[in-house]
Amino acid sequence: MKNINPSSTAAWKALDEASKTSTSISNLFESDPGRFDKYHIRFKDILLDYSKNRIDEKIFRSLIDLADQTELKAAISAMFEGKLINGTENRAVLHTALRNRSNTPVYVDGKDVMPEVNRVLEKMRIFSEKVAKGVWKGYTGKPIRSLVNIGIGGSDLGPVMVTEALKPYQHPHLKTYFVSNVDGSHITEVLKQVNPETTLFFIASKTFTTQETMTNAHTARDWFLENAHDKNEVAKHFVALSTNGNAVREFGIDLNNMFEFWDWVGGRYSLWSAIGLTIACAVGYDNFRKLLEGAHAMDTHFREAPFDKNLPVLLALIGIWNTNFLGAASETILPYDQYMHRFPAYFQQGNMESNGKCIDREGNRVSYATGPVIWGEPGTNGQHAFYQLIHQGTQLVPCDFIAPAQTHNPVGDHHVKLMSNFFAQTEALMNGKSLEMVKEEMRKEGKSPEIIDKIAPHRVFEGNKPTNSILVKKINPSTLGALIAMYEHKIFVQGAIWNIYSFDQWGVELGKVLAKTILPELEAPEKVSGHDSSTNGLINAFKEFRQD
Ligand code: F6P
Repeated sequence: MKNINPSSTAAWKALDEASKTSTSISNLFESDPGRFDKYHIRFKDILLDYSKNRIDEKIFRSLIDLADQTELKAAISAMFEGKLINGTENRAVLHTALRNRSNTPVYVDGKDVMPEVNRVLEKMRIFSEKVAKGVWKGYTGKPIRSLVNIGIGGSDLGPVMVTEALKPYQHPHLKTYFVSNVDGSHITEVLKQVNPETTLFFIASKTFTTQETMTNAHTARDWFLENAHDKNEVAKHFVALSTNGNAVREFGIDLNNMFEFWDWVGGRYSLWSAIGLTIACAVGYDNFRKLLEGAHAMDTHFREAPFDKNLPVLLALIGIWNTNFLGAASETILPYDQYMHRFPAYFQQGNMESNGKCIDREGNRVSYATGPVIWGEPGTNGQHAFYQLIHQGTQLVPCDFIAPAQTHNPVGDHHVKLMSNFFAQTEALMNGKSLEMVKEEMRKEGKSPEIIDKIAPHRVFEGNKPTNSILVKKINPSTLGALIAMYEHKIFVQGAIWNIYSFDQWGVELGKVLAKTILPELEAPEKVSGHDSSTNGLINAFKEFRQD
């Protein structure tokens, strides 16, 4: 990938200039009734409407120019071709190979990775079908009923997000649980709900060294052995999803029960790999395959569609406009689908761990903003919690609204009510309500002039808040796969243009290392004095409070 400072391009300068004149979204609609036709695209069962952004024809062209001038096309090819684009770890970035359903060769260091990918997928198919059919038995001969995924970060959020989003497809006899936090309460509460005779633990960890996961895995194994009393039975109840065979063996998991993946799969991009075994068991391998197919279709679209018709590229460019030129420091993801309640959290990691970087690919501090803060909750819950700030606060918060047209649960008029909120919110965010309108409304309500003067300013909505609407036919495995891939590629495009490395995560290291130093200090009897006074004071107070 070429190292181009995006702020040195002519397109960036044009965008900077354009940002100095204010563009009102509702005016853009007034002056162009065909705006929706121009600024929406459909890809299979996904419709992206990006017309409610502060973007006119000139800005749109400059954004496409920015992609061209930063040589995005070459960057996309480099990723798909297995070039070592994760420069600080000297690794390829090939989650796309995991879902490469066309099966064309993908080379890393001159070796086609597809035979290995297919081998592990086949192993996952066989295993998940055994579990689903009740052929895989526990140590007392009973079929498996509970799946417990133990992992953290990408090794948790991917499986939990997808199994929740695809809950309508869940196997009727299998219940899925997730343990991630090293807080003992998490595993304790899960273990209370499951039976050792019928529980399968998936120890999901790329490195198999992550403190939280290994601590939870040991606790789960101890609990299991307290019941089963025989180490040989561990093989029937523990599988490992990992790249680290030695650590898996050391933990005591039979290598036949290890489902492997490779260092060219980033943790937060790993749900397509063996990390997806929990998903395959929970919703069935066929649905897992459809998830991969949906993602592969989006990959092909991303690779081949011109930038002005390319969903991930457009989402990324709109994000860059909002972040770098309109000053938005955060973005929300708002799924109007209860099953997708972990989707914002999943892409919080996806975005923030990938593009939360301040050093460019040449080692210099960037002079422009990079990854925004990502947050969100499902609608309509968010409306009654934080939309107030989005409508009337001082910060600009661009929003992605996502909703299915078809619900899995057509009870009464719930779905049309949900959707009426979806449409109303994007309209309200765009149009707002002027002081004049508020005053008129209050006059009609019979309010006195004094009350109107006092209250009206508080009831004004400035509007002009940018939103993307992503409407899908139905959340099924294939559309979900495509949606996830779309957002993954959005992250890639932004990182490529910002000239940062999106596939490492050095920023999580420092805290981990310090925690290791502090851990023995917490167990030792004497007071600590080797830190700053705040950390010393807190640790010593903790030790004191610990005593009964
Ligand atoms: O938080 C850092 C991180 O490395 C994430 O990138 C990753 O998803 C998570 O920890 C878990 O790592 P592992 O799968 O190796 O246990």
